[in-house]
Amino acid sequence: MVGSIVTDSTTTATAPSDETAVSVQQVRKTYRVGQPVHALDGISFELPRGSYTAVMGPSGSGKSTLMNLIGCLDTPTDGTVVVNGRDVTSLSDRERTRLRGEEIGFVFQTFNLMPRLSALQNVALPMVARDVARDQRTERAQTLLDRVGLADRADHLPNELSGGQRQRVAIARALVNDPTLLLADEPTGNVDTETGATIMDRFADLHAAGNTLLVVTHERRIAEHADRILHLLDGRLERIETVESPRRTPVDDREVD
Ligand SMILES: Nc1ncnc2c1ncn2[C@@H]1O[C@H](COP(=O)(O)OP(=O)(O)O)[C@@H](O)[C@H]1O
Ligand SMILES: [Mg+2]
Repeated sequence: MVGSIVTDSTTTATAPSDETAVSVQQVRKTYRVGQPVHALDGISFELPRGSYTAVMGPSGSGKSTLMNLIGCLDTPTDGTVVVNGRDVTSLSDRERTRLRGEEIGFVFQTFNLMPRLSALQNVALPMVARDVARDQRTERAQTLLDRVGLADRADHLPNELSGGQRQRVAIARALVNDPTLLLADEPTGNVDTETGATIMDRFADLHAAGNTLLVVTHERRIAEHADRILHLLDGRLERIETVESPRRTPVDDREVD
């Protein structure tokens, strides 16, 4: 913050030279419902741009809380979360929503699709906020559905699709705005093995294209697709493991163990 080099922070922040996609510093999240629960208890790490990172840890260790903070769905009690150069804690709700819509793709374990909207409409939804013309929205959504192998299910409602198909719709939706950061919270938790393999294939493509990925999983072999594994325990970062030779081949091409 030296006077002569102070520039407009929004310009500086989004400059392509910035090599850190996500910076989490001394983050705490305390839920106060009766006894306070320290879901995150002082966590710090960085995700370099283009990195592929997994998060593991027992149930209740704070994985989803962490994802929600980075995904701009919630704010920390303490500490800072910087996404693509912007401190999300200092943004207004509106700015945070915009950051989430334009730069972050979020995939949930339970899909979170809109029940009354068709697969195509679900995928197109994030483009509505960006004022993309209707024709273009439909075309783009159809392309994304095609990419996840669901071109022929565009008009189906979520309850007319299997769990695996729903998750593929959710992934198409997460990618429709071309996010640079993809967050996935147990994306293979409720899907069949084949869909799990398709999902990991798509993630490998996204990684190869230079995007930043952060994927929560309790399956070791899913985590091993990443370059690093963050191990959480009781709201703390217990250790960061480097994966020596990440699994980059699709799960369904590998030997069954
Ligand atoms: N909205 C909430 N209100 C109160 N406590 C919560 C809330 N969300 C999570 N927690 C608590 O915070 C802790 C971490 O939860 P979570 O981040 O969901 O863990 P994980 O995803 O690793 O299973 C747990 O003890 C959980 O009960
Ligand atoms: Mg969770």
